[in-house]
Amino acid sequence: MVLKKRLPDGSQAPQWVQKIQYARNSIAYMESAARRYGDIFNAPVIGNHPVVLFISNPQAIQQIFTNDNKQFIDPPNQLLKPIAGDYSIFTLADSRHRRERRLLMPPFHGERMQAYGQAICELVDKAMSSLSIGTQFSARNLAQNISLDVILQVVFGIYQKERFDRLKSLLVQLSDSLKSPLISASIFFPSWQKDWGPWGYLRHLQRQIDELIYAEIHDRRHQDRAGSDILSLLMSARDETGQLMSDVELHDELITLVLAGHETTASAIAAALYLIHRHPQVIEKLLAELNDLGKSPEPRAIVQLPYLTAVCYETLRFFPVAILTFPREVKEPVELMGYQLTPGMRLYGCIYLTHQRPDLYPEPKSFQPERFLERQFSTYEFFPFGGGARRCIGEALAQFEMKLVLAKMLSGYRFTLADEFPEYPQRRGVTFAPARGVQMILKEKLSYPKSA
Ligand code: HEM
Repeated sequence: MVLKKRLPDGSQAPQWVQKIQYARNSIAYMESAARRYGDIFNAPVIGNHPVVLFISNPQAIQQIFTNDNKQFIDPPNQLLKPIAGDYSIFTLADSRHRRERRLLMPPFHGERMQAYGQAICELVDKAMSSLSIGTQFSARNLAQNISLDVILQVVFGIYQKERFDRLKSLLVQLSDSLKSPLISASIFFPSWQKDWGPWGYLRHLQRQIDELIYAEIHDRRHQDRAGSDILSLLMSARDETGQLMSDVELHDELITLVLAGHETTASAIAAALYLIHRHPQVIEKLLAELNDLGKSPEPRAIVQLPYLTAVCYETLRFFPVAILTFPREVKEPVELMGYQLTPGMRLYGCIYLTHQRPDLYPEPKSFQPERFLERQFSTYEFFPFGGGARRCIGEALAQFEMKLVLAKMLSGYRFTLADEFPEYPQRRGVTFAPARGVQMILKEKLSYPKSA
């Protein structure tokens, strides 16, 4: 009889030491653990759980995501509670979470994205018009400017200029504050979350943002303006008992969508611009593909381009924005990869480590968009947006926006990187972004039609 191993291996260092190692350099911590312990290891670095398993084996990921036998649950993401609120989809579980997904998902459906194509292209033109030839700029900041505008228009539908500008400026400050190592670390050490110091500043920003969001919800409730934005759709959405969403629920979901949606997409766009400009042959191929579409391509045609799609996938594989899925928890005794897991154990799908597996991605440290043209990867081998019951609801918007912004920028302008220094992923709250912000120089504005 083969005895089932009870617990995967992991570092023997005290939990607090491992937590500091993980908070300081999560990627180095994970790579070193994967080299020593393989596809599954214990990494008790998040929360106070003694067993936290990091998994990068596609079959195990499949077992967790499909969860046919309901052996795993999707617990609330406690780390995000202080930022997103008690009624955010991030922090809800079970039937409340399923209800929230049913309410939130329809406005993010792939087909609906087409309605936002024109707006996204115009926002790229608006952001680019602020740059002149020879200017050095941070592609991360530029992309964040665009992605925040997209969220404020597409999700919030805020048209009142004063409120739009004020909210945007506060959100930029809030998201920039997440770059602070102290604030990032406080997310993992809740006892550091005080009403003074860096966390106090974050709270101060949150209070001002809350005021503006509640004012927008209040005004909408008393107006007769039914827009095509996501807030309008959410305000009229009813759950299966006929209930509308309350103000607090709407507020927490709006904050969630802003935070989940603009940081991540901006980092992915900036990483793509960096990688494309480090690889001249990639730009050439992209430009050839874009040229073939003619002068004023439809957004729908742009987002279907195979090489552009492969470049976006390879960027999401190569330069992580999310390194882990949200947590899952063992609900009843279950066998996973030959280990006998018991209720209460925490599991994370390791997006970064799976995307670095040489058996799936030969020469994983090399940027090769072609790999996505040569092979179809399963959703357990390539999952930048997670999977299963908590799969990212903004996936279609993120990909749509990423492709349109890149296509508009590359076909209308010429850039170079401002220097030779390499970029690397740096923690920004719970996500990752290019550490140096991708410094670029605008070389040329081409004459081409204003909007796609
Ligand atoms: C490149 C951009 C993005 C990346 C890489 C990304 C990645 C992820 C990942 C890995 C998860 C966790 C999935 C899991 O645990 O299985 C997630 C969840 C989520 N994402 Fe995204 N995301 C992106 C953009 C967006 C956008 C644009 C929005 C909305 C505007 C969004 C909204 C959400 C929400 C609401 C959840 C929570 C779903 C739930 O708990 O049920 N994300 N995302």
